[in-house]
Amino acid sequence: STSSPLRHLVSIKDLSDEEFKVLVQRAQHFKNIFKENKTNDFQSNHLKLLGKTVALIFTKRSTRTRISTEGAATFFGAQPMFLGKEDIQLGINESFHDTTKVVSSMVSCIFARVNKHEDIQALCKDSSVPIINSLCDKFHPLQAICDLLTIVEKFDISLDAINKGTNSKLKIAWIGDANNVINDMSIACLKFGISVSIATPQGIEMDSDIVEEANKIAKRTGANFELTHDSLKASTNANILVTDTFVSMGEEFAKQAKLKQFQGFQINQELTSVADPSFKFMHCLPRHKEEVSDDVFYGEHSIVFEEAENRLYAAMSAIDVFVSNKGNFKDLK
Ligand code: CP
Ligand code: NVA
Repeated sequence: STSSPLRHLVSIKDLSDEEFKVLVQRAQHFKNIFKENKTNDFQSNHLKLLGKTVALIFTKRSTRTRISTEGAATFFGAQPMFLGKEDIQLGINESFHDTTKVVSSMVSCIFARVNKHEDIQALCKDSSVPIINSLCDKFHPLQAICDLLTIVEKFDISLDAINKGTNSKLKIAWIGDANNVINDMSIACLKFGISVSIATPQGIEMDSDIVEEANKIAKRTGANFELTHDSLKASTNANILVTDTFVSMGEEFAKQAKLKQFQGFQINQELTSVADPSFKFMHCLPRHKEEVSDDVFYGEHSIVFEEAENRLYAAMSAIDVFVSNKGNFKDLK
């Protein structure tokens, strides 16, 4: 019998609209189960990976991604193994290729947080088990699943009604860097028909392949996709204001120059005053003051800590679909 090809989670871009919807639905499903378990007797019928192991190959720091993926693995009965850059031979004594061959021969999946997107692609090429991209310099799909779950909850969006044009009146405004988080988030929002407006400083532009893909999806789902260098324009009537650090992991060397470039891009009273009066503020965290003022970050419109919690359910969904169900979205068990 021919076994179906191995499916990895590299970017939301690689998923059909329907598949992405399933991932968000599954996240919501496991959130309900997890919350019930917290208050009632522990139900063990979801221990689909009992006796298995899950590897986390992380060459960069992490709080949320590490906790949520280890927690999600444990939820399904698997033992997570955190393999930080000080722990294994990778990078010092051993190549990505050899490491991937060896690790994947012993575990049921690999969560990988790496620097270069090419490293994720190399892992996918060499691994005998699913690779789940846990952040690279180009994408952050687990964050996008979490963020769309958060948006669906906060704006009471029925997942059955994300067809063409249904949500296009909902607008998210990203004020910040052209980075891994917004690459996946914009594609994710557009797939749900949510309009996206991105304001970056002059000279900081979205990658052309992402723009091309975003325009394609926008056309299909009836949402608007806008790129600007005017943060006030992007924020106007936005239902969601969102940002991220101006200096991502791996580009600390450019910190001073970037902070200068981003002057005037802080989300504060000036920008929130032109947004929809009931706007929500989102941020993947970790947060720094230069991208958002304290009054917005800790204010009544902020949903950042609920968003962070939702990372757990996004990780559960990814394990369930890509590991327990081997990337088969059609008949999820
Ligand atoms: N949002 C996010 O990925 O956080 P960590 O870097 O702490 O995992
Ligand atoms: N853009 C940030 C996200 C951190 C979760 C980074 O890559 O460092």
